[in-house]
Amino acid sequence: MNILVIGSGGREHALVKRIAQSPLAKKIYALPGNPGMREAAAVPGNPMDNADTVKKAIELGIDFAVVAPDDPLANGLVDALEEGGIPCFGPSRQAAQLESSKVFAKELMQKYQIPTARFRAFTQVAPALAYLNDHPLPAVIKADGLAKGKGVIIAESLQEAEDAVKAMLQDKAFGESGSRIIIEEFLQGPEVSVLTLTDGENLVPLPSAMDHKRAGENDTGLNTGGMGVIAPTPFYTEEVAKEAMDAIFLPTLKAMKAEGRVFRGCIFFGLMITDKGPRVLEYNARFGDPETQAVLELVEGDLLAAMLACRKGALKADTLKSTGKHACCVVLASKGYPGQFETGFPITVAEEVAPFVHYAGVKQTDQGLVTSGGRVMSVTCTGDTLKEARDKAYEGVKGVHFTGKYFRRDIGASAL
Ligand code: AMP
Ligand code: GLY
Repeated sequence: MNILVIGSGGREHALVKRIAQSPLAKKIYALPGNPGMREAAAVPGNPMDNADTVKKAIELGIDFAVVAPDDPLANGLVDALEEGGIPCFGPSRQAAQLESSKVFAKELMQKYQIPTARFRAFTQVAPALAYLNDHPLPAVIKADGLAKGKGVIIAESLQEAEDAVKAMLQDKAFGESGSRIIIEEFLQGPEVSVLTLTDGENLVPLPSAMDHKRAGENDTGLNTGGMGVIAPTPFYTEEVAKEAMDAIFLPTLKAMKAEGRVFRGCIFFGLMITDKGPRVLEYNARFGDPETQAVLELVEGDLLAAMLACRKGALKADTLKSTGKHACCVVLASKGYPGQFETGFPITVAEEVAPFVHYAGVKQTDQGLVTSGGRVMSVTCTGDTLKEARDKAYEGVKGVHFTGKYFRRDIGASAL
């Protein structure tokens, strides 16, 4: 089969590598792809241009497309490709609202009694401020729409909470994404990411993961897309996993079906393991980045076959089996990320480290590879223990060089 993967990050690099191992894959294309994807032919293009992407997919004779990033999913690329006769892995625009509208997601959870933080939604400043007066602190303020991971503010004081409400609703700090907001209860506990494959009825969870979202060590500094991951996380015990499956995962699938928005693709459950059990922090309608880089290393089986089964409605529980190993992924970022940073610095990767590297913000030039983004690449290693995986990953990090290379030295430290 001819496969098209949409996206250009480390996640997509990991997906391409894995899809290439399937005997079902004949030729793989990536739009726009990145220079690390040896197994895929790059197709220049803009994933937000649905008509152009469909045209290119038809010209290339694509048999199956994998739409990985959030924006094209929210923009209906899966619907457009399917209408153009190209089957896809990924949710329709309607189903992707699980991520692209937090108000939709929260109202769904409320309606179907799926455990999550208590909340209220607002479009007007005055009622939101009035609600805050009786709200315990910290209060969590969230923009409704996609905001590159920045649309969540945890306000410690009433003043901070009021400022956040005004910034979103009045000053449009997040544009249209913040024209509706949520104010919700603050939850405590370890956070767990669970990526699951689903055909709309059946669901296969991949090993759990712990992301490190803050830029600085000991969870300080600004929120990023993710600075590193360990998998599995010790906080996601078998007991918690069972509760999550029964109270959250399967009810979410049923709810989406009942709403006429059958979800096929990857649902990434962002959970908080509170002392009252797991609660949904957020849904993502896609694979996580960098969770995918770590988690795919921990399962055996044909990922492409599993993705095809999701599309067909024939997903089997034993499609992807856990190896029982551990993984650690360390992201190498440009100094200054997620704020201002410079790009264009030459990159070198030692030969022995190359197989463990996933490219993200990397550009090929006549002079070789140079940095072109905030998250430049990531190094992922596995081991029989978390310690082994972590030691190997940090050893690997030493083999990658570019000016301004920044990484957290404490990925997974809290789990050891
Ligand atoms: P989200 O984009 O909804 O996952 O939120 C980003 C981050 O904010 C999460 O990874 C959590 O660390 C934090 N967060 C979100 N909602 C809450 C909540 N209700 N209580 C505590 N922390 C939260
Ligand atoms: N690493 C978090 C995300 O992909 O949303």
